Amino acid sequence: NSMLSWQRTAFHFQPEKNWMNDPNGPLFYKGWYHFFYQYNPNAAVWGDIVWGHAVSRDLIHWLHLPLAMVADQWYDVQGVWTGSATILPDGKVMMLYTGSTNESVQVQNLAYPADHDDPLLLDWVKHPGNPVLVPPPGIHHKDFRDPTTAWQTSEGKWRITIGSKVNKTGIALIYDTDDFVNFELKDGFLHGVPGTGMWECVDFYPVAVAGGDGLDTSANGAGVRHVVKASLDDDRHDYYAIGTYDEEAGKWYPDNPAIDVGIGIRYDYGIFYASKTFFDQSKQRRILWGWIGEWDSEAADVRKGWASLQGMPRTVVLDTKTGSNLLQWPVEESESLRLRSKEFKNVVAKPGAVVPIKLEAATQLDIVAELELDKEAVDRVVESDEEFKCSSSSSKGAAHRGALGPFGLLVLSEETLSEQTPVYFYVVKGKNATLRTYFCADQSRSSLANDVNKQIYGSSVPVLKGEKFRVRMLVDHSIIESFAQGGRSVITSRVYPTKAIYGAARLFLFNNATEAGVTASIKVWQMNSAFIRPFPNL
Ligand code: FRU
Repeated sequence: NSMLSWQRTAFHFQPEKNWMNDPNGPLFYKGWYHFFYQYNPNAAVWGDIVWGHAVSRDLIHWLHLPLAMVADQWYDVQGVWTGSATILPDGKVMMLYTGSTNESVQVQNLAYPADHDDPLLLDWVKHPGNPVLVPPPGIHHKDFRDPTTAWQTSEGKWRITIGSKVNKTGIALIYDTDDFVNFELKDGFLHGVPGTGMWECVDFYPVAVAGGDGLDTSANGAGVRHVVKASLDDDRHDYYAIGTYDEEAGKWYPDNPAIDVGIGIRYDYGIFYASKTFFDQSKQRRILWGWIGEWDSEAADVRKGWASLQGMPRTVVLDTKTGSNLLQWPVEESESLRLRSKEFKNVVAKPGAVVPIKLEAATQLDIVAELELDKEAVDRVVESDEEFKCSSSSSKGAAHRGALGPFGLLVLSEETLSEQTPVYFYVVKGKNATLRTYFCADQSRSSLANDVNKQIYGSSVPVLKGEKFRVRMLVDHSIIESFAQGGRSVITSRVYPTKAIYGAARLFLFNNATEAGVTASIKVWQMNSAFIRPFPNL
């Protein structure tokens, strides 16, 4: 057991032991951030799902509370599944969640705090009239789950959406309610996309065109765009699209149908699923939580006694520079964990070079790097219009050598590079000298162990004229979260090195471009551990 304990993270939310999956019902209430989550109290694998609960003052340090809801009713006896919180104007909290019934039917249930004066929201009452929703005609009884936070229509009704599918079309059903008990199914769907399969954990929220603050879920009108997110059960990724919400019709339309929900942009190109946002009214921001699973074997999870963590919560805003993607960024409170820093200015990596970035330790880091390709070399390079994909099956990942990439950082690397996780940019010069940039992470050499997933992943990322290549990375033992270009593209990696652990972990700058040198400025902070432990004296 202790042999595997280094994989345990130091500043990411995790229960003390056993299995966790989706974030549930996040909210800020009477000075506390509340975090609920899908939890198996009995084992490090999925099953016996109930709601775990923890609270925090700052989204970084957490106190575990007793389970919020357990499987004790006929309508949730096979699992207290994913749900969302709505805070009413009078401050009351309505929690809608999916129950899997004694006959494995997916139904929606209502719960609320037993005592709204309790800032810890310790006790939850399940509404006596549950379930409040059962699968409507035409919807399979196992394809009806994960109600969203409700938002208000201009008539004053509350509206929610729930993911489902019809044949292979993923859909978001919509319902209106006055009281969270009686619901009216609206005609048609909020949205649907053929071929995307079951939509789990749908999310729907407004973003401000002008950027800046986050918006309350009910915000609408001029200057507001709406995001729809679905977690695709078939391919286990979270996809979003930006578009227009027509309140009267109860419909949402993507700005660009070619990158509609499920066929376009992902929140994260690595491991990140079943995510959910909430509006933090204390700091006027929208925060995204996501479940980060394990990529080692189930046997390893059982051995180490735990599985999964939650990603560092991220703020989400519209990218006002492109208008076509969101920006995700670790909440500012993450910076409170920064300890000693070291700065490396104008580090040069010639074509083919690997340059050590010397640190006292390299397993708990916050890294901010800016990289530039030698400009004359970029001008000199002949247009190739190469078809590039971070993850093509023939790809050699970071070992590949192109004219203008890959270049980036080797994280959680062993001294001789026998283990390394490259996170990098790759630039392709296309027709008319246009430059296309890809942002990738290569897990293929991350571990000498053979029971771990070693995929390479990533996507293209907009890099606008005059911008340098920028990346921020949070490294925490077995997780690396990498944010490119201020959060236009994100990749979360889980890695399980066997040698590059504790004092043996190293950081390097590398440049595998054949035609251009790279100059980098890198600032690295050692990161403190967060306090994540049981609430005292409960
Ligand atoms: C997503 C999901 C949800 C469901 C929950 C069950 O990971 O499958 O659709 O409510 O997990 O744990």
